[in-house]
Amino acid sequence: MTTTTTTYSYLHTCQFPTIQRLRTCQTRHRFLPSTCAPVTRKLKLVVAATAAETTRPMKAAEDGVLKKGIAEFYDESSGVWEDIWGDHMHHGFYDPDSTVDVSGHLAAQIRMIDEALRFAGISEDPTKRPKSVVDVGCGIGGSSRYIASKFGAKCQGITLSPVQAQRANALAAAQGLSDKASFQVADALEQPFPDGQFDLVWSMESGEHMPDKAKFVNELARVTAPGGTIIIVTWCHRDLAPTEESLQPWEKELLNKICDSFYLPAWCSTAEYVKLLQSLSLQDIKAEDWSQYVAPFWPAVIRSALTWKGLTSLLRSGWKTIKGALAMPLMIEGFKKDLIKFAIITCQKPE
Ligand SMILES: C[S@@+](CC[C@H](N)C(=O)[O-])C[C@H]1O[C@@H](n2cnc3c(N)ncnc32)[C@H](O)[C@@H]1O
Repeated sequence: MTTTTTTYSYLHTCQFPTIQRLRTCQTRHRFLPSTCAPVTRKLKLVVAATAAETTRPMKAAEDGVLKKGIAEFYDESSGVWEDIWGDHMHHGFYDPDSTVDVSGHLAAQIRMIDEALRFAGISEDPTKRPKSVVDVGCGIGGSSRYIASKFGAKCQGITLSPVQAQRANALAAAQGLSDKASFQVADALEQPFPDGQFDLVWSMESGEHMPDKAKFVNELARVTAPGGTIIIVTWCHRDLAPTEESLQPWEKELLNKICDSFYLPAWCSTAEYVKLLQSLSLQDIKAEDWSQYVAPFWPAVIRSALTWKGLTSLLRSGWKTIKGALAMPLMIEGFKKDLIKFAIITCQKPE
C-alpha cells in the first residue's frame, strides 16, 4: 500500500475478494479557497486492500486525521443543523412516494427510530424493554433522549464532537432527562465501557464514519449484554453481484466525492456487515434496504438549505459545513442510481 504524509490511507472493507487498486479522491479541490488546501491534502483518501487486509485497522496517525476531521465537521455543523432541522441528525422514514411538508420531517425522523426498534423486535413490554442503552455516534443525543423517554432506559451516548456532547447534555438537562441520558466524547472503536454492559446497542448513521468496520462491529458486540440487541442503521454501497470484484469506476468516483465532503472512509455493502456479524456468531441477523423509505429526505434538506435562513446559517457556519451541503446532490444521485443503500442491520448476542 502506498501512502505519503499528505495522503490518508485506509483499508477498503467492502469489496471482496481480490486486490483493490489504489484509489485517490481527485476532485475535491475544485471549490476550495487556497487556505483549505493543506487540510484537504491531509484528507486525501487512498484505498488499497486485499481480502486479507480488510479487517486491518488504519495506522494510528491516519486514524487520528479522520477522527479530527469528523470532530471538527460536527463541531462546526451541528448548530446549523439543529437550528434548521432539530435534534435528530438522521434520515426520516417516509411512506414511499409521499410528499411531506417541513413539519412532517421531524415526525419522519422519529418514525425512523420507531421503525428501527420495531424491525429489531424491541418490545414495549415492561419486562422486555431495554434498560441500558449505548448510543454510538450520538450526535446531539436525539435518539437517546427519545429512547430514554419511551422506555425509561438509561442511555449513554458517545460522539467524537465535544460540541455535540456538550449540547446533548444541555438538552438532556433542559428536558429533565439528565439522570437518564448522558453524553461524552469517546471513540466508537475503543468504547469506554466494560464488556456486556448494554441490552440495546444503537448506532444510527454513524457506521459510515468508521474506518475499520470489523473493529466497529466487534466493539458493538463486546459492549452488548448477553441476549442484548444491536441495531445498525447506516449508509452502504450496493451489494456486489457474484460476478463482480468491485464497484464500477464511476461508482467509486461518486463515493469518493461524498467521502471527502462528509469525512467518511471507504464504504461497505450491507452483505459485508452481515458477514462481519456472522463471524462473531451473533444471532437472528436481519438486514433490509430502506432506501425507498428515505427518498424524500435529501431533496428536503436541500430545499431547507436554499431558504434565507438556510443560506445565512450556512454562510456563517464555515467551510466544512458548506462543503457538506455541496455534496447533498451527490447523495441523491447515488440513491437514484442504486449505488447508495440506506440499510438497517440488526442482531442479538447469544445468551
Ligand atoms: C450523522 S451523525 C448521527 C447522529 C445521531 N446518531 C443521530 O441520529 O442524530 C454521525 C455521528 O457519528 C459520530 N461519530 C463518527 N465517528 C465516530 C467515532 N469513531 N466514535 C464516536 N462517534 C463517532 C459523529 O461524531 C456524529 O455524532
